[in-house]
Amino acid sequence: MTGKLRLGVNIDHVATVRNARGSAYPDPVRAAKLAEEAGADGITAHLREDRRHISDADIDGLMESLTVPLNLEMAATDEMQAIALRHKPHAVCIVPEKREERTTEGGLEVAKDENRLAHFIAPLRDAGCRVSIFIAADPVQVEAAARIGAAVVELHTGAYCDLHAEGRFEERDAELQRLREMSAYAHGLGLEVHAGHGLTYDTVGPVAAFPEVRELNIGHFLIGEAIFRGLTPAIAEMRRLMDVARD
Ligand code: PXP
Repeated sequence: MTGKLRLGVNIDHVATVRNARGSAYPDPVRAAKLAEEAGADGITAHLREDRRHISDADIDGLMESLTVPLNLEMAATDEMQAIALRHKPHAVCIVPEKREERTTEGGLEVAKDENRLAHFIAPLRDAGCRVSIFIAADPVQVEAAARIGAAVVELHTGAYCDLHAEGRFEERDAELQRLREMSAYAHGLGLEVHAGHGLTYDTVGPVAAFPEVRELNIGHFLIGEAIFRGLTPAIAEMRRLMDVARD
């Protein structure tokens, strides 16, 4: 059942570099167009409540110029819902957000907030957006995501990647096994399965090999790697490693 694995390139951190100086460059929309030419199957951008990287104008620019689908990551707030309903991107990925965090640290606690989230995503679905829920590899969250009517779950690979980076290989392998089981479980419940967060050339292979995973969303590492080899070769190498793992 190994269909094509899509690569969504997250361009948030092009905006991080721009915003560090309050300049107009580097432009994340230009990076997104380049990523598209380099073979990205989609572009992911996280419009955070504090606008620390991607801005509202960036979302306008992405919607105007992309030919591949935009996956808009956002918190489940009224403000973000209104923005998503105005743009109607191909996909909306609901993520937890805390202002004090450096990045999206954990998955969404869907089970604890099931009613509100079901109501929150209904208009997005009605508007034609594919709604994805970013969750940890936890059966309770997978089941809740299915119950609220999400089309997709994105499994959080951050813990797996951190354990790898810290050399805690037994725990890494246990987390990888949880991710593997949850991708099969979610697929069995009728959910499309995506994965992402913290993936690098070293960690992408085992996740890309899960047959049920249809999309990986990767950003921070690729934007960093682009400093050394350029964005196009950085993406091409990620694509190659994904294809090798999928064979
Ligand atoms: N998927 C989701 C839901 C995310 O929030 C992020 C980070 O914005 C990513 C994937 C990409 O993570 P990274 O930038 O670490 O590759």
